[in-house]
Amino acid sequence: MLDKLGWRKTDKKDATLQERMLKVRSESVPQHIAIIMDGNGRWAQKRALPRVAGHHEGMKNIRTITRCANKVGIGALTLYAFSTENWKRPRKEVEFLMRLPEEFLTSFLPELMELNIRVRMIGEIDALPTHTQKAVQNAMNTTASNTGMILNFALNYGSRREMVLSVQEIVTQVQNGTLSLEDISEETISNHLMTSQLPDPDLLIRTSGELRLSNFLLWQLAYSEFWFTEVHWPEFSDKDLLEAVESYQSRNRRYGGLKGE
Ligand code: FPP
Repeated sequence: MLDKLGWRKTDKKDATLQERMLKVRSESVPQHIAIIMDGNGRWAQKRALPRVAGHHEGMKNIRTITRCANKVGIGALTLYAFSTENWKRPRKEVEFLMRLPEEFLTSFLPELMELNIRVRMIGEIDALPTHTQKAVQNAMNTTASNTGMILNFALNYGSRREMVLSVQEIVTQVQNGTLSLEDISEETISNHLMTSQLPDPDLLIRTSGELRLSNFLLWQLAYSEFWFTEVHWPEFSDKDLLEAVESYQSRNRRYGGLKGE
């Protein structure tokens, strides 16, 4: 049974954590958080485990972070799960990664329904193996009428590729006369990106110490706050997520204007 904030009775064991979550929830919460889930390989290496063990642990951690994000009232969570560049990894690793959405979505789907969470995806689904496509499509269809948080997976996603596709669509509309050159605005471009249904992320988190964007949401992150941590993704906890959101809440976003405006 869930209470009206989406909490289970068992959640209330850690009173300090609950209090912290409620405080975060009562302030200005980022409507959209994007996460680059990095460091699965290093997490595994530190434990003398194969890299794929890190990916599996990383997959399990998505549950923890989804639950926490949902509890504090985040509107959308976009997770970078597989980039257009990740196809260059060894075949076995790619095959393993492509099995994870199935495992995750099958076992987590009942809880996603209970939490009223809607699953979405950005990236080119057609190039994924059929079994991966089926798992993602099934989760998107099953959760389509949920009205709570959006859990958005970036799978076979690359921001530059997304921009190329967007330009192609826009140029086609200009060529067939449904759009005039003068009417192309920033909004036109946003509307042709794969994230057209989502607000731009307020906060970007990257785990595991790297300080780069790796072709993730380059247009959408123009005004986002960034949060980097040394923690590897499989160990990134609900407390770490709260720390990132608390830091976001203490910042003053100016969008190029002046303080206080
Ligand atoms: C980067 O770590 C991580 C990835 C390329 C894969 C991320 C995928 C998951 C966390 C699970 C996806 C699950 C679902 C349900 C879609 P890395 O391998 O580059 O780590 P390293 O830099 O330490 O080697």
